Amino acid sequence: MQVFSLTASSRARTAIYWRLKGYAELLREFTDTAGALARGARVFEPGCGELSLASYVRAMTKRAGACVIDYVGIDPCLDLDRAEGKLSARDCSTAALSLVASSFLEWKGDEACFDLALIRFTVHHFPDQLDAWYGHIARHLRKGGMLLMADHILPDCSEESARLKDEWFGLLESATAVERTEEESEWLRHAYRDWDLFLPLANHRKALERTGFSVEVRCHYRDQAVLLATKL
Ligand SMILES: C[S@@+](CC[C@H](N)C(=O)[O-])C[C@H]1O[C@@H](n2cnc3c(N)ncnc32)[C@H](O)[C@@H]1O
Repeated sequence: MQVFSLTASSRARTAIYWRLKGYAELLREFTDTAGALARGARVFEPGCGELSLASYVRAMTKRAGACVIDYVGIDPCLDLDRAEGKLSARDCSTAALSLVASSFLEWKGDEACFDLALIRFTVHHFPDQLDAWYGHIARHLRKGGMLLMADHILPDCSEESARLKDEWFGLLESATAVERTEEESEWLRHAYRDWDLFLPLANHRKALERTGFSVEVRCHYRDQAVLLATKL
């Protein structure tokens, strides 16, 4: 992440450290739960990106003496050759993995038969399509199947969200104020644009309930949360 190369004041460095520490803990909660739920399961992952989660989950289930039955990764930006090569390089058998280079909403996988959907830091890119995304996920899960997601999700209190935004961007601005490179300026502009896509927890909860899930918040740390939803 760019932030580490910045000339930060010690106050900003400390705050950035704590934010990233919380982020690391949240990711650990997500990946550990994903590994436990995926044992013996049929799994799909919309927005699987560089397959880092797929290889972790499959290695973790293997260490526990179980395996993932199916792991379907769906992402329009997949470079299939590169992805397969990366997994082999990590000595991870590709037997249970199939990759689909497609937008998730166009994916026509088997319906009502998957046990688990994993989705990490992808839904926030589609703030106007929550029902479409959660509905498409629900369609492919069996009854009782689970959706485990981690994403940028704001607190329901708008004053608290505004405070988090001011605090975070205040720190980023001050950390880069001395010599901001063009690359850092672009990163900051991107961070502002990204933040404006984040929605409060209530929006996600309502969309999940409308599309047939019950919802449990596993952890919520500032602008990030892990949700576990069960298809009713
Ligand atoms: C922030 S990345 C997260 C990648 C991965 N889930 C992770 O946590 O490492 C968002 C991912 O969503 C993917 N994406 C964008 N539009 C998508 C779509 N319509 N359907 C599925 N994935 C999409 C991008 O290609 C990218 O890999």
